[in-house]
Amino acid sequence: MAVDLLLGLQWGDEGKGKIVDVLTKDYDIIARFQGGPNAGHTLEFDGIKHVLHTIPSGIFHENAMNIVGNGVVIDPVIFKKELDNLKKFNIDIKSKLLISRKAHLILPTHRLLDAASEAAKGKAKIGSTLKGIGPTYMDKTGRNGMRIGDLELDDWKEKYRALANKHEAMIGFYDVDIQYDLKDLESEFFAAVKELKSLTFIDSEEYLFKAQKEGKKILAEGAQGSLLDIDFGTYPFVTSSNTTAAGACTGLGVAPNKIGDVKGIFKAYTTRVGSGPFPTELFDEDGETMGRVGNEFGATTGRPRRCGWLDLVALKYAVQINGVTELMMMKGDVLSGFKKLKICTAYNYKGDVIKHLPYNIEPENVTPIYTEMEGWKKDLTQLTKPEELPPALNAYIDFLEKELEVPIKIVSVGPDRTQTIHR
Ligand code: IMP
Repeated sequence: MAVDLLLGLQWGDEGKGKIVDVLTKDYDIIARFQGGPNAGHTLEFDGIKHVLHTIPSGIFHENAMNIVGNGVVIDPVIFKKELDNLKKFNIDIKSKLLISRKAHLILPTHRLLDAASEAAKGKAKIGSTLKGIGPTYMDKTGRNGMRIGDLELDDWKEKYRALANKHEAMIGFYDVDIQYDLKDLESEFFAAVKELKSLTFIDSEEYLFKAQKEGKKILAEGAQGSLLDIDFGTYPFVTSSNTTAAGACTGLGVAPNKIGDVKGIFKAYTTRVGSGPFPTELFDEDGETMGRVGNEFGATTGRPRRCGWLDLVALKYAVQINGVTELMMMKGDVLSGFKKLKICTAYNYKGDVIKHLPYNIEPENVTPIYTEMEGWKKDLTQLTKPEELPPALNAYIDFLEKELEVPIKIVSVGPDRTQTIHR
């Protein structure tokens, strides 16, 4: 049985949490493959809004097993908070949530290193969520990291101490003033590790291999978006993992020839949180309206998201590198009421018109070239059938499908599970 993927195609915050929640009824297993608590996957049903950071978005469904894969980085402190928030829902976490022994641990000193690194960068900062993601993946690739499986060893605290001591020395190298009380941070960390150890750790690649053989349906849940990918994103203003399709293979141990549908999610416009180039960014009333109507604030940090028109050049690039087979368009409802809509279909790059994403998309090199489309007035939030969509929105969708050469299978018209139109 093939493993389907669900990926964000822009700079994250496309609405992956909602769509995983909507799709979970069709799957036996939801497996998160990269990132960590820098993510904020929001889902809403029965009038309650839930924000998950590390726990897969299938956790509210009886039918599905949830796996935190080896490619994920886990902060026990944040994980414990997520578990505490789930307590009132009576979910049997020990049997519904399985954690890969090969997933790496975020230590309190990883967070401090993140803060020191960002402070040292000054104006050139990445705009990190400061959850320790970069330093944890650095330790992973540097072969110094601690993994979930280490917590099963008797000497894990010695390993911890050695790594934390090294981190403290590294913090000293940065010429910045970072105030912290490691004793406090550690007592919180150790208490959280104790709770984490009460959960079920597995060799997830083996579990998933067997599940595939048994014909179980598996959905791999990505975090962040393709333009934040460590290799293909707007480097260095990216996250530290592979957010693209290949990341699901390395982050779960799934063979490339076992990948089935690649479901790509995008917003009907574009947002970005943190620093870095964003060719279609708006600094006017239109951008302000998108942010206000779309409630564009980071689910993890609360930071306002930068907003702009849909960038089809960047979206096409993401469709290409991921091999997207079907698309999901989110937040179409936010564009209701705009008289005219713009879609960036090419870039003016140093005087040439280009239709691909170049090495450098800094504003001094790139000016977006727009196609203008009619807007629609209709409030979409109560619609349930594709026939009810206004003609101008259908024209918008048709245009995108033609340009991207991939069908748009879902149009989301609000944050709730029920506000989802299948085409
Ligand atoms: P980090 O992964 O926390 O170090 O952040 C690196 C960059 O990725 C920053 O610009 C963040 O704002 C951005 N980022 C990280 N995670 C997310 C996410 O889940 N949604 C949107 N942006 C994110």
